[in-house]
Amino acid sequence: MTRIHSDLHRFDPVTVIGAGTIGLSWATLFLAHGLTVRLYDPRPDLKEVSEQHFKSIESTLTLLNLPSKGFESRLTLTSDLQQAVTGAAVIQENGPEKLTLKQELFANIENYVEAHTLLLSSSSTLPASDISVLMKDKSRMLIGHPFNPPLVMPLVEVVPGQFTSHEAVEDALVFYRALGKAPQHIQKEVFGFVANRLQFAMMREAMYLVDEGVVAMEDVDEIVKDSIGLRWAATGPMLGMHLGGGQGGMESFMRHLGPTMEKSWYAQGNLKMDEDTISRLATKSRKSYGHSTIDELAQMRDEKQMAILKTRHK
Ligand SMILES: NC(=O)c1ccc[n+]([C@@H]2O[C@H](COP(=O)([O-])OP(=O)(O)OC[C@H]3O[C@@H](n4cnc5c(N)ncnc54)[C@H](O)[C@@H]3O)[C@@H](O)[C@H]2O)c1
Repeated sequence: MTRIHSDLHRFDPVTVIGAGTIGLSWATLFLAHGLTVRLYDPRPDLKEVSEQHFKSIESTLTLLNLPSKGFESRLTLTSDLQQAVTGAAVIQENGPEKLTLKQELFANIENYVEAHTLLLSSSSTLPASDISVLMKDKSRMLIGHPFNPPLVMPLVEVVPGQFTSHEAVEDALVFYRALGKAPQHIQKEVFGFVANRLQFAMMREAMYLVDEGVVAMEDVDEIVKDSIGLRWAATGPMLGMHLGGGQGGMESFMRHLGPTMEKSWYAQGNLKMDEDTISRLATKSRKSYGHSTIDELAQMRDEKQMAILKTRHK
Protein backbone atom coordinates (compact mmCIF):
# COMPACT_ATOMS: atom_id res chain seq x y z
CA MET A 1 0.00 0.00 0.00
CA THR A 2 1.26 3.52 -0.84
CA ARG A 3 2.28 5.43 2.33
CA ILE A 4 0.64 8.84 2.68
CA HIS A 5 2.58 11.85 4.05
CA SER A 6 1.23 12.83 7.48
CA ASP A 7 0.51 16.39 6.23
CA LEU A 8 -1.67 15.00 3.43
CA HIS A 9 -4.36 13.22 5.51
CA ARG A 10 -6.46 16.35 5.89
CA PHE A 11 -6.29 16.97 2.12
CA ASP A 12 -7.83 13.61 1.20
CA PRO A 13 -9.81 13.08 -1.07
CA VAL A 14 -8.88 15.36 -3.95
CA THR A 15 -11.08 16.22 -6.92
CA VAL A 16 -9.31 16.95 -10.19
CA ILE A 17 -11.47 18.97 -12.57
CA GLY A 18 -10.52 18.55 -16.24
CA ALA A 19 -8.68 15.51 -17.57
CA GLY A 20 -6.47 17.25 -20.13
CA THR A 21 -2.68 17.65 -20.12
CA ILE A 22 -2.48 19.25 -16.68
CA GLY A 23 -5.39 17.52 -14.93
CA LEU A 24 -4.12 14.03 -15.77
CA SER A 25 -0.62 14.89 -14.59
CA TRP A 26 -1.91 16.29 -11.26
CA ALA A 27 -4.15 13.21 -10.82
CA THR A 28 -1.10 10.97 -11.29
CA LEU A 29 0.90 12.90 -8.69
CA PHE A 30 -1.94 12.79 -6.16
CA LEU A 31 -2.50 9.03 -6.67
CA ALA A 32 1.22 8.29 -6.46
CA HIS A 33 1.25 10.01 -3.05
CA GLY A 34 -1.55 7.79 -1.78
CA LEU A 35 -4.47 10.21 -2.12
CA THR A 36 -7.95 9.23 -3.29
CA VAL A 37 -8.81 11.04 -6.52
CA ARG A 38 -12.08 11.85 -8.27
CA LEU A 39 -11.38 12.85 -11.86
CA TYR A 40 -14.14 14.96 -13.43
CA ASP A 41 -14.44 15.86 -17.12
CA PRO A 42 -17.48 16.23 -19.38
CA ARG A 43 -15.57 14.65 -22.31
CA PRO A 44 -17.23 11.45 -23.59
CA ASP A 45 -13.89 9.63 -23.98
CA LEU A 46 -12.81 10.19 -20.35
CA LYS A 47 -12.30 6.47 -19.62
CA GLU A 48 -10.17 5.83 -22.74
CA VAL A 49 -8.07 8.98 -22.29
CA SER A 50 -7.47 8.16 -18.64
CA GLU A 51 -6.54 4.51 -19.28
CA GLN A 52 -4.13 5.48 -22.05
CA HIS A 53 -2.52 8.14 -19.82
CA PHE A 54 -1.97 5.86 -16.80
CA LYS A 55 -0.43 3.19 -19.03
CA SER A 56 2.02 5.61 -20.66
CA ILE A 57 3.06 7.37 -17.42
CA GLU A 58 4.37 4.27 -15.61
CA SER A 59 7.98 4.70 -16.75
CA THR A 60 8.04 8.36 -15.64
CA LEU A 61 6.72 7.37 -12.19
CA THR A 62 9.43 4.73 -11.90
CA LEU A 63 12.10 7.30 -12.79
CA LEU A 64 10.67 9.57 -10.09
CA ASN A 65 10.84 6.71 -7.54
CA LEU A 66 7.08 6.91 -7.13
CA PRO A 67 4.62 4.00 -7.09
CA SER A 68 3.03 3.35 -10.49
CA LYS A 69 0.50 0.64 -9.63
CA GLY A 70 -2.56 0.12 -7.44
CA PHE A 71 -4.26 3.38 -8.43
CA GLU A 72 -7.57 1.83 -9.61
CA SER A 73 -9.07 1.37 -6.13
CA ARG A 74 -8.47 5.06 -5.29
CA LEU A 75 -9.51 6.59 -8.64
CA THR A 76 -13.08 7.46 -9.67
CA LEU A 77 -13.90 8.87 -13.10
CA THR A 78 -17.05 10.94 -13.39
CA SER A 79 -18.85 13.46 -15.58
CA ASP A 80 -21.18 14.42 -12.72
CA LEU A 81 -19.83 17.58 -11.06
CA GLN A 82 -21.88 17.26 -7.87
CA GLN A 83 -20.72 13.68 -7.35
CA ALA A 84 -17.12 14.68 -8.10
CA VAL A 85 -16.83 17.50 -5.59
CA THR A 86 -19.13 16.51 -2.70
CA GLY A 87 -16.97 15.66 0.32
CA ALA A 88 -13.69 16.66 -1.37
CA ALA A 89 -10.99 18.20 0.84
CA VAL A 90 -9.22 19.79 -2.15
CA ILE A 91 -10.32 20.75 -5.66
CA GLN A 92 -7.59 21.22 -8.28
CA GLU A 93 -9.27 22.76 -11.33
CA ASN A 94 -7.78 22.32 -14.83
CA GLY A 95 -10.58 23.18 -17.24
CA PRO A 96 -10.05 25.26 -20.39
CA GLU A 97 -8.41 28.68 -19.92
CA LYS A 98 -11.66 30.65 -20.31
CA LEU A 99 -12.66 33.17 -17.65
CA THR A 100 -16.46 32.76 -17.87
CA LEU A 101 -16.16 28.96 -17.83
CA LYS A 102 -13.96 29.02 -14.70
CA GLN A 103 -16.18 31.64 -13.02
CA GLU A 104 -19.30 29.51 -13.55
CA LEU A 105 -17.48 26.30 -12.62
CA PHE A 106 -16.30 27.63 -9.23
CA ALA A 107 -19.69 29.23 -8.47
CA ASN A 108 -21.25 25.83 -9.21
CA ILE A 109 -18.66 23.88 -7.19
CA GLU A 110 -19.32 26.16 -4.21
CA ASN A 111 -22.88 24.79 -3.99
CA TYR A 112 -21.64 21.28 -3.15
CA VAL A 113 -18.44 21.68 -1.10
CA GLU A 114 -17.90 22.33 2.58
CA ALA A 115 -16.56 25.65 3.86
CA HIS A 116 -13.08 24.23 4.61
CA THR A 117 -12.52 22.74 1.10
CA LEU A 118 -9.41 24.18 -0.53
CA LEU A 119 -10.30 25.46 -4.00
CA LEU A 120 -7.29 25.65 -6.34
CA SER A 121 -7.15 26.58 -10.01
CA SER A 122 -4.22 25.66 -12.28
CA SER A 123 -4.93 28.71 -14.47
CA SER A 124 -1.81 30.03 -16.22
CA THR A 125 -3.00 33.61 -16.49
CA LEU A 126 -6.37 34.30 -14.84
CA PRO A 127 -6.20 35.82 -11.34
CA ALA A 128 -8.21 34.26 -8.48
CA SER A 129 -9.97 37.61 -7.88
CA ASP A 130 -11.49 37.34 -11.39
CA ILE A 131 -12.23 33.59 -11.28
CA SER A 132 -13.99 33.81 -7.88
CA VAL A 133 -16.16 36.79 -8.81
CA LEU A 134 -19.47 34.83 -8.77
CA MET A 135 -18.69 33.00 -5.51
CA LYS A 136 -20.33 33.89 -2.20
CA ASP A 137 -17.30 32.84 -0.11
CA LYS A 138 -14.05 33.66 -1.93
CA SER A 139 -11.77 32.99 1.04
CA ARG A 140 -10.70 29.42 0.13
CA MET A 141 -10.17 30.03 -3.61
CA LEU A 142 -6.70 30.70 -5.04
CA ILE A 143 -4.35 29.83 -7.88
CA GLY A 144 -2.05 26.78 -7.70
CA HIS A 145 -0.33 27.19 -11.05
CA PRO A 146 2.01 24.33 -11.95
CA PHE A 147 4.67 24.14 -14.60
CA ASN A 148 3.94 21.43 -17.15
CA PRO A 149 4.06 18.53 -16.33
CA PRO A 150 3.13 18.99 -12.65
CA LEU A 151 4.11 15.40 -11.96
CA VAL A 152 7.74 16.25 -12.78
CA MET A 153 8.28 20.00 -12.39
CA PRO A 154 8.84 21.29 -8.83
CA LEU A 155 7.37 24.80 -9.17
CA VAL A 156 3.79 25.63 -8.21
CA GLU A 157 2.91 29.35 -8.12
CA VAL A 158 0.52 29.93 -5.22
CA VAL A 159 -1.31 33.17 -5.98
CA PRO A 160 -4.07 34.36 -3.64
CA GLY A 161 -6.84 36.67 -4.78
CA GLN A 162 -7.99 39.83 -3.08
CA PHE A 163 -10.33 37.86 -0.79
CA THR A 164 -8.28 34.68 -0.22
CA SER A 165 -7.61 34.01 3.47
CA HIS A 166 -4.12 33.71 4.91
CA GLU A 167 -5.06 30.18 6.11
CA ALA A 168 -5.94 29.07 2.58
CA VAL A 169 -2.54 30.24 1.32
CA GLU A 170 -0.80 28.37 4.15
CA ASP A 171 -2.86 25.23 3.44
CA ALA A 172 -1.96 25.35 -0.26
CA LEU A 173 1.75 25.68 0.59
CA VAL A 174 1.58 22.72 3.04
CA PHE A 175 -0.39 20.62 0.52
CA TYR A 176 2.05 21.15 -2.36
CA ARG A 177 5.15 20.74 -0.17
CA ALA A 178 3.85 17.40 1.16
CA LEU A 179 3.56 16.31 -2.50
CA GLY A 180 7.27 17.06 -3.00
CA LYS A 181 6.65 20.29 -4.93
CA ALA A 182 8.41 23.65 -4.50
CA PRO A 183 5.51 26.11 -4.12
CA GLN A 184 6.19 29.85 -4.33
CA HIS A 185 3.85 32.35 -2.74
CA ILE A 186 3.42 35.15 -5.30
CA GLN A 187 2.77 38.37 -3.43
CA LYS A 188 0.71 40.32 -5.96
CA GLU A 189 -1.82 39.28 -8.61
CA VAL A 190 -0.49 40.14 -12.05
CA PHE A 191 -1.54 38.74 -15.42
CA GLY A 192 0.53 35.61 -16.22
CA PHE A 193 2.02 35.46 -12.69
CA VAL A 194 5.85 35.18 -12.69
CA ALA A 195 7.27 32.07 -14.39
CA ASN A 196 5.22 32.47 -17.57
CA ARG A 197 5.87 36.20 -17.81
CA LEU A 198 9.60 35.45 -17.74
CA GLN A 199 9.26 32.53 -20.14
CA PHE A 200 7.04 34.42 -22.59
CA ALA A 201 9.35 37.46 -22.64
CA MET A 202 12.18 35.23 -23.81
CA MET A 203 9.96 33.23 -26.18
CA ARG A 204 8.80 36.42 -27.90
CA GLU A 205 12.39 37.19 -28.81
CA ALA A 206 13.27 33.58 -29.70
CA MET A 207 10.28 33.30 -32.05
CA TYR A 208 11.09 36.68 -33.59
CA LEU A 209 14.70 35.67 -34.30
CA VAL A 210 13.55 32.39 -35.89
CA ASP A 211 10.88 34.18 -37.94
CA GLU A 212 13.45 36.70 -39.18
CA GLY A 213 15.75 33.85 -40.30
CA VAL A 214 18.51 34.86 -37.86
CA VAL A 215 18.70 31.37 -36.39
CA ALA A 216 17.10 27.94 -36.92
CA MET A 217 14.51 26.81 -34.40
CA GLU A 218 16.50 23.80 -33.16
CA ASP A 219 19.64 25.98 -32.92
CA VAL A 220 17.86 28.30 -30.46
CA ASP A 221 17.42 25.23 -28.24
CA GLU A 222 21.14 24.41 -28.43
CA ILE A 223 22.16 28.03 -27.77
CA VAL A 224 19.98 28.22 -24.65
CA LYS A 225 20.92 24.76 -23.33
CA ASP A 226 24.63 25.54 -23.71
CA SER A 227 24.52 28.95 -22.06
CA ILE A 228 21.60 30.59 -20.27
CA GLY A 229 19.80 27.31 -19.52
CA LEU A 230 22.84 25.78 -17.86
CA ARG A 231 23.59 28.90 -15.84
CA TRP A 232 20.01 29.57 -14.84
CA ALA A 233 19.47 25.93 -13.74
CA ALA A 234 22.32 26.51 -11.28
CA THR A 235 21.73 30.09 -10.08
CA GLY A 236 18.55 31.54 -11.55
CA PRO A 237 18.75 34.77 -13.60
CA MET A 238 19.14 37.26 -10.75
CA LEU A 239 22.02 35.59 -8.88
CA GLY A 240 23.49 34.85 -12.33
CA MET A 241 23.47 38.59 -13.03
CA HIS A 242 24.88 39.42 -9.59
CA LEU A 243 27.80 37.07 -10.29
CA GLY A 244 28.18 38.48 -13.82
CA GLY A 245 29.23 41.78 -12.25
CA GLY A 246 32.37 40.30 -10.67
CA GLN A 247 33.32 41.59 -7.20
CA GLY A 248 30.99 44.58 -7.67
CA GLY A 249 28.01 42.25 -8.07
CA MET A 250 24.65 43.35 -9.44
CA GLU A 251 25.42 47.09 -9.20
CA SER A 252 28.59 46.70 -11.20
CA PHE A 253 26.80 44.60 -13.80
CA MET A 254 24.07 47.23 -14.23
CA ARG A 255 26.57 50.13 -14.44
CA HIS A 256 28.78 48.29 -16.90
CA LEU A 257 26.29 46.40 -19.13
CA GLY A 258 23.04 48.17 -18.22
CA PRO A 259 23.11 50.62 -21.17
CA THR A 260 23.74 47.74 -23.64
CA MET A 261 20.94 45.78 -22.02
CA GLU A 262 18.57 48.70 -22.36
CA LYS A 263 19.55 49.21 -26.00
CA SER A 264 18.81 45.57 -26.73
CA TRP A 265 15.34 45.88 -25.10
CA TYR A 266 14.48 48.49 -27.74
CA ALA A 267 15.91 46.33 -30.53
CA GLN A 268 13.78 43.34 -29.57
CA GLY A 269 11.10 42.04 -31.90
CA ASN A 270 7.42 42.66 -31.39
CA LEU A 271 5.85 39.56 -32.87
CA LYS A 272 2.10 39.43 -33.52
CA MET A 273 0.36 36.08 -32.97
CA ASP A 274 -1.64 36.32 -36.21
CA GLU A 275 -2.49 33.48 -38.60
CA ASP A 276 0.45 34.22 -40.94
CA THR A 277 2.98 34.14 -38.09
CA ILE A 278 1.50 30.93 -36.67
CA SER A 279 1.59 29.28 -40.08
CA ARG A 280 5.22 30.34 -40.80
CA LEU A 281 6.51 29.20 -37.41
CA ALA A 282 4.47 25.97 -37.43
CA THR A 283 6.06 25.04 -40.77
CA LYS A 284 9.51 25.66 -39.30
CA SER A 285 8.66 23.59 -36.20
CA ARG A 286 7.62 20.61 -38.36
CA LYS A 287 10.92 20.86 -40.20
CA SER A 288 12.88 21.02 -36.93
CA TYR A 289 11.04 18.42 -34.84
CA GLY A 290 8.90 16.40 -37.29
CA HIS A 291 11.38 13.49 -37.20
CA SER A 292 9.93 12.31 -33.85
CA THR A 293 6.45 12.00 -32.37
CA ILE A 294 5.28 14.37 -29.64
CA ASP A 295 5.16 11.43 -27.19
CA GLU A 296 8.80 10.53 -27.98
CA LEU A 297 9.93 14.14 -27.53
CA ALA A 298 7.95 14.51 -24.28
CA GLN A 299 9.50 11.31 -22.92
CA MET A 300 12.99 12.60 -23.80
CA ARG A 301 12.17 15.94 -22.09
CA ASP A 302 10.90 14.20 -18.93
CA GLU A 303 13.90 11.88 -18.70
CA LYS A 304 16.41 14.73 -19.12
CA GLN A 305 14.58 16.98 -16.67
CA MET A 306 14.49 14.22 -14.07
CA ALA A 307 18.21 13.51 -14.56
CA ILE A 308 18.94 17.22 -14.00
CA LEU A 309 16.69 17.28 -10.93
CA LYS A 310 18.46 14.26 -9.45
CA THR A 311 21.84 15.92 -9.96
CA ARG A 312 20.55 19.13 -8.40
CA HIS A 313 19.37 17.23 -5.29
CA LYS A 314 22.82 15.71 -4.86
N1 LIG B 1 -0.67 23.11 -20.77
C1 LIG B 1 0.15 23.78 -19.97
O1 LIG B 1 1.36 23.89 -20.23
C2 LIG B 1 -0.36 24.40 -18.70
C3 LIG B 1 0.57 24.65 -17.66
C4 LIG B 1 0.09 25.16 -16.45
C5 LIG B 1 -1.26 25.46 -16.29
N2 LIG B 1 -2.13 25.23 -17.33
C6 LIG B 1 -3.54 25.54 -17.09
O2 LIG B 1 -4.22 24.33 -16.83
C7 LIG B 1 -5.55 24.42 -17.33
C8 LIG B 1 -5.79 23.25 -18.27
O3 LIG B 1 -4.88 23.31 -19.34
P1 LIG B 1 -4.56 22.01 -20.24
O4 LIG B 1 -3.36 22.35 -21.03
O5 LIG B 1 -4.58 20.79 -19.40
O6 LIG B 1 -5.84 22.01 -21.21
P2 LIG B 1 -6.47 20.78 -22.01
O7 LIG B 1 -7.19 21.36 -23.16
O8 LIG B 1 -5.43 19.73 -22.25
O9 LIG B 1 -7.54 20.18 -20.98
C9 LIG B 1 -8.71 20.83 -20.61
C10 LIG B 1 -9.72 19.78 -20.18
O10 LIG B 1 -10.87 20.45 -19.68
C11 LIG B 1 -12.00 19.71 -20.07
N3 LIG B 1 -13.20 20.54 -20.01
C12 LIG B 1 -13.88 21.14 -21.02
N4 LIG B 1 -14.94 21.78 -20.52
C13 LIG B 1 -14.92 21.60 -19.18
C14 LIG B 1 -15.76 22.02 -18.12
N5 LIG B 1 -16.82 22.76 -18.34
N6 LIG B 1 -15.45 21.64 -16.87
C15 LIG B 1 -14.35 20.90 -16.62
N7 LIG B 1 -13.53 20.45 -17.58
C16 LIG B 1 -13.81 20.82 -18.85
C17 LIG B 1 -11.66 19.25 -21.48
O11 LIG B 1 -12.49 18.13 -21.87
C18 LIG B 1 -10.19 18.89 -21.34
O12 LIG B 1 -10.02 17.53 -21.02
C19 LIG B 1 -5.69 25.78 -17.97
O13 LIG B 1 -6.28 26.67 -17.08
C20 LIG B 1 -4.25 26.17 -18.27
O14 LIG B 1 -4.05 27.56 -18.27
C21 LIG B 1 -1.71 24.70 -18.51
